[in-house]
Amino acid sequence: MAFNPRVNYDTIAHLYDGDRYRVKAVDPDLQSFVKERLEAIDALDIACGTGNQMVANRRAFPSMRCVGLDRFAGMLRYGIEKDTDVGWVQGDGATLPFTDDSFDYVSNQYAFHHVGDKIGMLTEVRRVLRLDGRFVMLNLVPERSANWLMYRYFPGVYQRDLADFMTLDMLESETRRAGFENVRIDVLIGQSEDRLRTFAQDARRRVTSQLIVASDEEYAAGIRRIDHDLNEIGDGNDTVPSTICLMKLIAER
Ligand SMILES: C[S@@+](CC[C@H](N)C(=O)[O-])C[C@H]1O[C@@H](n2cnc3c(N)ncnc32)[C@H](O)[C@@H]1O
Repeated sequence: MAFNPRVNYDTIAHLYDGDRYRVKAVDPDLQSFVKERLEAIDALDIACGTGNQMVANRRAFPSMRCVGLDRFAGMLRYGIEKDTDVGWVQGDGATLPFTDDSFDYVSNQYAFHHVGDKIGMLTEVRRVLRLDGRFVMLNLVPERSANWLMYRYFPGVYQRDLADFMTLDMLESETRRAGFENVRIDVLIGQSEDRLRTFAQDARRRVTSQLIVASDEEYAAGIRRIDHDLNEIGDGNDTVPSTICLMKLIAER
């Protein structure tokens, strides 16, 4: 399977034009990489979505060659509107349409779980990276986020994510197996007090890809669980603890 067809981003692309997706800060790992290299750099963002990361990167480094690749034209459409100096390319992360040794820096943010052929993608990233190039991947870690509100109220979403995401151990070993050096994974656990009423509002809008692919029954059951707890709380304090674990993989060629 070349890609995971569960989420068709063409049909939900418009949701990504919302405010919270509009602006990203320049990629701090790219900044450190540029400082180390002090030379022209070619950078690729795989599964760039609406392109916010590349738009921010190019603003910080106008002479850098920046390419954003995404599987879905509906997402790239927004990138093209934002910056025509970024190269926007439609393609699958597991079959990159670039020659060997094309980039110094490759990023992939919150998208690896969507790629059907994950090992294929790691092999492809290694192939298009130049010697001493760097790969930086960010993502959620479902195996350590069981206490995240989304997973507590929608256990089917949790099970699906556990199946779609590689475990940290597997990701690390497959990245090494693909030929990368100096593979490192940093894990960041975010503990917060979330407002259940706000979470309920967001869940009712059903705009995240995770809730969009949930079956209607599964979604309705989750909303019932939330409503039940909100009823119990009444006018009282609706803050609830929630834990979400994120990770950053850094690997070099
Ligand atoms: C959650 S969004 C993340 C977008 C962006 N990286 C960000 O952090 O805002 C996931 C992105 O992965 C893209 N995608 C899904 N499957 C893909 C594949 N097989 N190859 C490349 N991109 C893919 C989707 O179109 C979508 O833009």
